[in-house]
This record gives sequence, structure tokens and C-alpha cells, in this order.
Amino acid sequence: MFVTVFLLLVTLCAQGGYGEEIDEAQRPGHVSVVIVGGTGDLAKKYLWQGFFELYVNQVKNGYTFSFYGGGLSPADKATPVLFEILKAVSCSKDVSQERCALLKEQFLRLSQYRQLQSVEDYQDLAKHIEKELQQEGMTEAGRLFYLSVPAFAYADIADKINSSCRPTSGAWLRVVLEKPFGHDFRSAQVLASQLGNSLKDEEMYRIDHYLGKQVVSRILPFREENKKLLDPIWNRHHIERVEIVLKETLDVKGRIPFYDQYGVVRDVLQNHLTEVMTLLTMSLPMNLSSNEEVLRNKLQVFRSLLPVGKNQAVVGQYQEYKTEVQQELNKTKDHISITPTFAAVLMYIDEAQYEGVPILLISGKMLDERVGYSRILFKNDIFCLQNHNSVHCKPKQIVFHFGHGSLEYPAILVSKNLFKPVLMDSEWKEVTKHKDVDVLSLPLSDYYVQTPIVQREAYYELISHIFAGRKNSFISTENLLASWGLWTPLLSSLASTFPRIYPGGAENGDLLDVRIKGKDISYHNEVVIISNDQIGGFQVMQGKFRSSDMVSAWTEELVVRLAADIQEAAEAAVREAGVFHLALSGGSSPLALFQRLTLHHFSFPWRDTHVWMVDERCVPLTDSESNFRNLHDHLLHHVRIPYYNIHPMPVQINQRLCVEEDGGALLYEKEVSKWVNGSSFHFVLLGVGYDSHTASLFPGSKVDGHGESLVALTESPVKPHQRMTLTFSAINRAHKVALLVMGKGKHELITQLSRVKDNPDKWPVTGVKPANGRLVWYIDYDALLG
Ligand code: BG6
Repeated sequence: MFVTVFLLLVTLCAQGGYGEEIDEAQRPGHVSVVIVGGTGDLAKKYLWQGFFELYVNQVKNGYTFSFYGGGLSPADKATPVLFEILKAVSCSKDVSQERCALLKEQFLRLSQYRQLQSVEDYQDLAKHIEKELQQEGMTEAGRLFYLSVPAFAYADIADKINSSCRPTSGAWLRVVLEKPFGHDFRSAQVLASQLGNSLKDEEMYRIDHYLGKQVVSRILPFREENKKLLDPIWNRHHIERVEIVLKETLDVKGRIPFYDQYGVVRDVLQNHLTEVMTLLTMSLPMNLSSNEEVLRNKLQVFRSLLPVGKNQAVVGQYQEYKTEVQQELNKTKDHISITPTFAAVLMYIDEAQYEGVPILLISGKMLDERVGYSRILFKNDIFCLQNHNSVHCKPKQIVFHFGHGSLEYPAILVSKNLFKPVLMDSEWKEVTKHKDVDVLSLPLSDYYVQTPIVQREAYYELISHIFAGRKNSFISTENLLASWGLWTPLLSSLASTFPRIYPGGAENGDLLDVRIKGKDISYHNEVVIISNDQIGGFQVMQGKFRSSDMVSAWTEELVVRLAADIQEAAEAAVREAGVFHLALSGGSSPLALFQRLTLHHFSFPWRDTHVWMVDERCVPLTDSESNFRNLHDHLLHHVRIPYYNIHPMPVQINQRLCVEEDGGALLYEKEVSKWVNGSSFHFVLLGVGYDSHTASLFPGSKVDGHGESLVALTESPVKPHQRMTLTFSAINRAHKVALLVMGKGKHELITQLSRVKDNPDKWPVTGVKPANGRLVWYIDYDALLG
């Protein structure tokens, strides 16, 4: 059949001027395309049209094709359905009616439906392909499987393809997957490893259809072509903020069983908007077509992003959503869902280039208009007293307009008060005749506008990239996991957040306007909303524990309180002494505190703060076990503290770790005496281990036996055994000591500590007794109440 079709096509090509007839021996080979889920929605809307266009374009290069629509239904039922879909494909405007009819006829002849359920079905398909190849004497170029089915079926289908339907040797296999690729980091990792059992990474093509949008795929080339003009301004000194916005007018009726489990963050922010964000902010690769380099630079963006927590997001839900959920999920009238249909998320990149530049990712259903864009808004340092319409008074911005909106077509717009962009892509043109519309508060005539000469569907673009094996337009496993790594903590913290309810459409008014304050985002309008904060009754309790003051609250609130208390102590010390000496412990409990300090305490006097170590493990400072490394990665790296104010413990001297003769402990003691007035730290943060050790002072190790020494080497019962630590002499000279205890696992210990007498040898923490200072226990409800 292929030969017949090929001959017909040669005639067709000659008629249509497709070019030279191709020598049989030089023909690049045969491609089998299998759309699993071939009669589903996506296939019907985009895929068959995309493959038809691929066919029209590649057949003139000598490729031959066969197309299979696969599904679970038996062939007699599904074949007519498939052909109804295939009949609807259309040709581009430049193809004559007659030629189009012929092309469609060929396409239909090359297509068939196949039931693809069991392994045998896949084996039969393989046999069928091989038989046809043999009969026609064709060489196989490759097999393309497009899995347009729910993600839970991926692993099983990939297994069947691997075991029974791989192409003949020398031919390629490409398996295309649609999102969702998991719903959080863990599930994405599991899915990736399951797929990895059957497919090689280079065989997997994970689709994010935003990467096929013409404007999105031109972001990097645009940055490259205009590098000379952009380099001086693509940084924190010039960029006011970056916005990546997808507004939609539709609801999610009919998709609730999927959507209610995912919500807007998983549906579009984690993938489409994140991808755009990385393209805008990654370092420009030297070679745009190098997969490795593009991926490397993208991953670097993920590494540099500051963690995104609850205070960096606001969520909403359109009013009707609740009723739609009740109906589609058969729930009663009192059922509520807190799945967000709107979200605005604020991000920051911790790199000198972008430091302090807010990056906003926003999307929602049932908004006032359908539009997708990203805008780089530049700072304007000109103050216009009178004529606000002068060009230098207007916003300076670059808009990557993905489509829809008042402009209606995809375009890249550069405000004329910035520069005239270069255009080197022959598939794009400049628009000089302007409609009378505004785009992001500037009339179109105030922009230089570039647009694609021919508009193409994202799916067509991606299908042609799959065919060409261009992996840059797809999501690699590393990229996917990095993105879930970024979003998963936020998703967990939003799991109990009540979204703001919005009416939908124009009526939303300013209800969803957001405000950026420091590193936080909030709704601009204060309205009464139900929030879990109110339900949970997040109260802070004050009391006594072991005759000292105690503050207790749920973990989050406790951390907020402790951070505020440290800042208060810092400000008081700087006011009085011009300097604040803070000694910090290692371990996991302080991590939440460090995060709080980095993201919320922008007025913290870091410049006048000296950071000291309470204790250290005898490992190199770069080791992942090192307390200093932890402190560096989670706190010091993110705040503006002068290097010379940081005092790691000298555990490594003469290329060896904690050797008594090297005198590391004495050295640190001297450093403390030199800098800290009376060796009295202003604030010492301690934790307590399950065995009641504090700092690195362990039970049964004569913790009181260090005399007047401020620093000592000790032995821990757990690895790494050797430690350097402040002694009780040092700790008990402090002005203020905080003992932070969190988690259910510490409840038993807290119960015991509430009863025992002071006995530092057995219960080291009971040796914490500041002579002239104040001890405060910060114990969360889990530890206090179990
Ligand atoms: C899809 C989401 O991935 O992207 C949809 O699942 C969303 O919910 C769509 O509507 C948006 O894509 P586009 O191309 O219309 O902007």
C-alpha cells in the first residue's frame, strides 16, 4: 500500500510543485505514528491536525508514513469515530482545494484504528508494521507513540511498547507524554523511575504545549538577537518586576474530577508559567541549540530561586466552583472544596543580577478576559511634572504576548521608549499598521511589534520538533523534578488554606488585585475571609517551664514569635552597643527559623550582627554534615551580612580535623574574647536532643568539667563523633538564651524534663542557667502536649 500511496504522492508533488522526485535508494524511510487515545479530546482537537500537517510537509522530503489511532474500544466501534475526526483535518491557505482533497484522501488511506489494550495487541501492531515494511521493501526510520491517555496508564503502556513494539534496529523510538507528570515531587519521581524502566531518557518527549507557542519559543532567540541592547538593562538595576500571566474566562465544568485534585498551581503554574519564567531569567546559553547547555542554565535558575512559602502566594476560587464540584463529584450541599482556581505567586531569584526583582506568576479561571503574556516592566527614573503623555513618561516594557487579549495575535512588543529590537528570524515580521488598542496600558502605536508571518498551533510546532528530535522544546526528567521541588513545599502549605471566593468575570472588580510587600504577597483589599488561621486558633501561650519563661504555640506561630524576639534583641543590642552577637546551633529545628528570618525580616540589622557557632561537627565546613554549611545554605547565603562578621568554628587546622594539639578550641575562645564584650553573647539559640544533650554537651561526659574554658572538644555517642562546642561557661554568660524544642518526638523528653531536678551530667540541658541573663523555652504544642 505504501508504494501505491508514494507513487500517487510523487504525482501530487509534481503537480503541486513540491520539488524533485526522490530516488528510492535515498528515501529517508518509513515512520509509523501511533496515537494512543486516538479518538480522545486532545487528538480530536489538535493532534490529528498536527500530524496531517507533518505528513504534508515531510512527504515532500521523501518520508513515508502510516498512522494508527489506538484505543481500548474494539475496532468495529471506534473506526467510524476515528474517520469522522480524520475527515475534519484542513490544509493551510496556500494549498489549492484540489490538492488538499488529494492529500486528505492519502492521509485517510494511510490511517487505521487499532485496539491497543493487551500485550498481544501491541505485538500484533508490531507484526503488522514489520510485515508492511517487508512487503514494500522499506527501511524503517522510526516509531512515534503519542500517549494521549491519563497519566496512570503511562507506565503500563511504556512497558508494552518496550517489550513488544520497539522499532527495528537503527530506527528511532519516540514516546510522547502529556501532563500531568505527577502531582508533587515524590509522585513525579516515582513516575519518572517507572518510565525509566522501559524507556531511555532520549526516547521520552514530555509535552508542555507552552514551549510550542511561537512567542514562547522565540524568547531565547529574541534575547540573543538583542543581546547588546538587553545586557545593560536585563538586571535588578533596571527591571522593576517580571509578570507571567495567564488569564482565562472559562470555568472548569466537565473537568472537575481531574481539576479538583490538581487546582491552578499544578495545572498551569508548575509547568507553563514556570517554563516561561526560566526562559526569561536563565543565563543566555552560548549555543541556543545545545540541549545540555539550555538545561544546565534552566536548572541553575531553579537552584537560585528563594523558597516559595505560604506568604509568597494568594489563592482564590470562583464562586460557582463549589456547586460544580458537588454536582460532578456527587457530593452533598455541605461539601466544600478548597482547590484554588486562581493563584498569584511571588518569586525571587537569589542572584546578584536579579536580587530584589519581584517575579509574579498569576493565573486563574473565570477572570474578565482571556489573555496570556509575560511582561518585563523596567524602572522609570524620570518624574514627569506636567505632560504625562510624553514618551519618556510612559511605562518602559517588553511584552511577550502569547495570544488572545485585545491584541488577538501572538507578538513581541517593545515600548518605543526602550529600543528598536533587531529581527533576524525570517519567519517573523514587523507590524507597522496598528489597530487602535491598548496593550498593558500603552497604545499599540507606542510599541515596536514583531509577529510570526504564519501563525501556527503549538501542537503542530511540537509535533514537528518531535519529528526533528529537537529535545529543547520538551521537559526533561531533571527539569521536571526541579520544578516539582520548587512547588511541592508551597502546595503542602496551601493544602489547608481557604481560597478567597470571587464571583467571576468582570464582577471580580479589584477583588483579586495583589500587593507586594517586601518578600510577601497579599490581596490588596482586606476582606473577611474564612481562613484556617482563624479556625485553628493560632494563639501563643506564655507560661513557665522548669521555673524559666516559656512561650508555646503551633510550630509556625512559634517560629514567627522566636524570629520576632531575635530581631527585637538584635535591635536593642545595636542601639545600645552598636553590635549584636548571636550564637546559633545546628540541627534541623532552626531551619524553619532561618527561613522565616530570610523571607520576613528585611529590616534585621545583619550589617551589625556577628554570627557565632554554638557547636560544630568535626568535618570540613563544606561537608553536608557541617553545622556551618547548613547555616550558610539556609541563612547566611540569603542575607546581607559582611563576611568578616561570620565566625565558623576552626575544626580543621593543619589539614586535620579537631586535633587537641592544634588548639582549635582555644583559638575560637580567643576570637570570642576579642570580639564579644565580656564574652557574653547577646543571644544564644540552643536546641535539645532526645537524650537531652544541648550544644554538643552530651549525657555522661562530665559536661560541667570544662572549668572556665569557653570552648571545648567533646565526643558524641552518634556519628560524626567528634565535636567542638561552647561550654556552659560560655552559654551561661549570655544575655539571653532561647531553647527551641519542636515536634511530637520531643514530648516524652519534655515530660521528663518537667519533673527532673538539675543534673547536667545526666540531663545536660538542665545545666543551662544564665547567670545574669534570661532563659526562655520555645516549645511547640506538639512537643508540649504530644
Ligand atoms: C492546559 C490546562 O494545560 O493549558 C488548561 O490544563 C488551560 O486548564 C490551558 O486552560 C491553557 O492553555 P492556552 O494555550 O489556552 O493558554
